[in-house]
This record gives sequence, structure tokens and C-alpha cells, in this order.
Amino acid sequence: MAMRDLVAETEVSVSDLIAPLFVREGIDAAREISSLPGVFQHTVDSLRREVADLAALGVRSVMVFGVPTDKDATGSQSCAANGIAQQALEALRADMGDDMVIIADLCVDEYTDHGHCGIVDEHGRVDNDATLELYAAAAVAQARAGAHMVAPSGMMDGQVGAIRAALDADGFSEIPIMAYSAKYASGFYGPFRDAVDVTIAGGGDRKGYQQDWRNGREALVEVAADLAQGADIVMVKPAVTYLDVISAVRAAVDVPVAAYHVSGEYAMIKAAAANGWIDGDVVALEQLTAIKRAGAGIILTYLTRWFAEGAGGLR
Ligand code: PBG
Repeated sequence: MAMRDLVAETEVSVSDLIAPLFVREGIDAAREISSLPGVFQHTVDSLRREVADLAALGVRSVMVFGVPTDKDATGSQSCAANGIAQQALEALRADMGDDMVIIADLCVDEYTDHGHCGIVDEHGRVDNDATLELYAAAAVAQARAGAHMVAPSGMMDGQVGAIRAALDADGFSEIPIMAYSAKYASGFYGPFRDAVDVTIAGGGDRKGYQQDWRNGREALVEVAADLAQGADIVMVKPAVTYLDVISAVRAAVDVPVAAYHVSGEYAMIKAAAANGWIDGDVVALEQLTAIKRAGAGIILTYLTRWFAEGAGGLR
């Protein structure tokens, strides 16, 4: 065992991990998400306790998703100074200072009544350029609320440049952007949509703005575009089904590469393990290690707390 460890090439450590966390307006106690066992929709208070617990376990980064009570056509709560995500960011920054990297997911599908990641035109299509103004306003609201970093996940063309310009103009030139650069129109996001109470109107999908899973090289074009616009970290999403993409991106760029082990990837492990079909702890650690081995130095994962608690005794 000592010899095996001596020559091991890849080791996941807790400082590589970002915990995605949900804060929901209008509830008075945390609610477990049925399709994401062990993951909760939090109140601001229960979120603060969760982050304090994570900090005590050695976790250094979290990403906040807000779920508002009022959704509208333009997702206006995404940029309201007192919007639920902004309230949470402010509270966490006050609690944690700079000891925890507090990242704001920057998208509007949680905030729109039609469930799309942008402003929809009269034909039901997302209006890319109108959406950029919304993202810019949301980024500024998040930075003012205390986010250390923003992470645009909407896959609009030009989003990184628009957000960079807006942050710089508001005095936030030091706030980095972690871009969801290569984000696929994936079936693995199902449980996430339960977590944020999103249904896409009319049974729609995101194929108009997220990537086609048949394309790998296209990811490099997306990554290059985001870097040219000022991205500081680039992300591939999902992770395990896209290890080839992670590896190609790692080889192509010198900035940090992140990967998002998404809700469906987590839920599949939990469901199979609950049935006794796989050893969930082993598969979880195997997947996180594979993501790192492929080249992602940063992993967003719902397994963060489990890993920080000792990864089921596997470490
Ligand atoms: C969009 C967004 C999604 C996820 C993160 N940001 C869903 C989507 O594009 O439909 C999914 C994350 C997960 O499945 O864990 N704001």
C-alpha cells in the first residue's frame, strides 16, 4: 500500500473542490432535494451553518445558486440588490471574509418564468445580445454583495466580455471570472432542475445555446473565445462523460481548468448505491480521481462534503 501510494500519479485534495449550494427564498427550514440525496435547498441561515460546517471540515470554496420566489420574463431578481442570491452572498462574505472563496453562479434560468437562461424574443428564442446586458447587471449585483468570483453558466456568445467590462466599470477589476466555457446540452442536469425549481416552457431544451455532445473540438473554440474575452478559469461540464474534452482543454491552455461533476452524475451514484448495485464510496472517489487525472485541477461537486468528511474512509 505504501509503495502504491508512493507511485500514485493523481491525488484529489479537498482544496481542489467547490461545493455547489442552493439558497431558496420563502422557506423557513432547509429542504432535502429528493433527486439529490444529502443536498438541500437552504434558507440563508441554514446556508450559513452549512458553510461554517464545510469550513470546519477544510473546504475552501463554495458556489451559490439562488432560487427566488418571484420569477418573471426577464429574471429581474437575478440583479436585484436584495435578491435571494445577493442576500446569501452578503451573509457568507460577512461570516467568512476571505477564508472561503465565495463564488456566484451567474445565470438567469432560476429567475425566469419560462426557465431559459436568457431573455426570450417573440418567437420563443433566446435573444443573445439582450441577455448580455442582464448578465452584466447580475455580475455587478453579485460583486457588490460580496462574491469573490462570478461564474457565468448561460452559454451566451460574448458573455465573458460583457461581464468583464461591467465589473471593471463598477470598480471590480480584481474579481475573476470562472467561465462555464464548454457546457453541453446534457441529460445529466435533471436533478439540478429540481434543485432550482426550473421547468423549461413548452418542453423546450437548451440546444440553441449549449453544446452538442457530438462535438469535442468545438469546445476548444469556446474556450479560446472565453479566454480572449478575459476568462480567468475555464470549465468543462458535465465531467465524467466529457473526460476527453477536459483532457484536450488542459493540453490547450495554461489557465486553471475546472470541471463540474453535475447533478445527474451524483444522483446516478447515489441511486445505484442505494440499490446495492455499486459501492457508492468507491465509485465516487474513482470518478473524482478520474476527473482530476483527465486534467481538471478544480472540481465542482455535490460530493464535496462527503469527501471532506473522509470520503467514506477510503483515504
Ligand atoms: C444553468 C445551470 C445548469 C446547471 C448549472 N447551471 C442547468 C442547465 O443548464 O440546465 C446544472 C448543474 C447540475 O446539473 O449539477 N444555470
